[in-house]
Amino acid sequence: NLAPVIAIDGPTASGKGTVASLVAEKLGFHYLDSGALYRLVALGSQKAAIDPENGPELGFLAQKMLISFKNGRVLLNAEDVTEAIRTEEVGLRASKIAVHPEVRDALVAVQHGFRRSPGLVADGRDMATVIFPDATLKVFLTATVLARSERRHKQLIAKGIPAKLVNLLSDLEERDARDSSRGTAPLAVAEGAKVLETSELSIDQAVQAVLGWYQT
Ligand code: C5P
Repeated sequence: NLAPVIAIDGPTASGKGTVASLVAEKLGFHYLDSGALYRLVALGSQKAAIDPENGPELGFLAQKMLISFKNGRVLLNAEDVTEAIRTEEVGLRASKIAVHPEVRDALVAVQHGFRRSPGLVADGRDMATVIFPDATLKVFLTATVLARSERRHKQLIAKGIPAKLVNLLSDLEERDARDSSRGTAPLAVAEGAKVLETSELSIDQAVQAVLGWYQT
């Protein structure tokens, strides 16, 4: 009698975070942004000057980090890092530290802890394949690399953060390649997952598609 889970996976900037949190809101479910966990390890390891190649030390750091999500804010060892974990630099570093099994293992229990009544919407790269293989609904959200770069560009500009489309495009391609080719929990379409191509969809259309699949 575990709570139901909607697992939403997809590449960088596919819109899964926005869609997943809106679906969670509509259903009154909890929401897990698993990418934030990898970003926290990335930021923590940067502060502690740990080499992104050092799996064991990164795993140890991930185990002892104090993480909390409160009222939309993200805290790392009691420091508010909500904005600090959102930079492209931290995102790139996250994709480097996320290849280590020691890091991924350290975060499994944290992620399972989000599964509480009445239900959970979880987004990431391996929600349906590794963390919640028994998810009630599995969705793979995708969009062309150009559509994703343009979305990310708009978001950054709207926040007043300078960004160049060409740089974002190559960053996304680099992260996609690393996320899809790593040995442990690579980004992949889970068996039985519904694939949603969102390049031509509005956020609302994507949310409705997921809700429609969940309710039938
Ligand atoms: O989704 P987001 O861009 O915040 O994720 C940052 C990085 O964390 C990804 O590029 C990926 O390498 C890693 N990640 C992961 N598994 C997840 C979520 C994120 O490996 N479930």
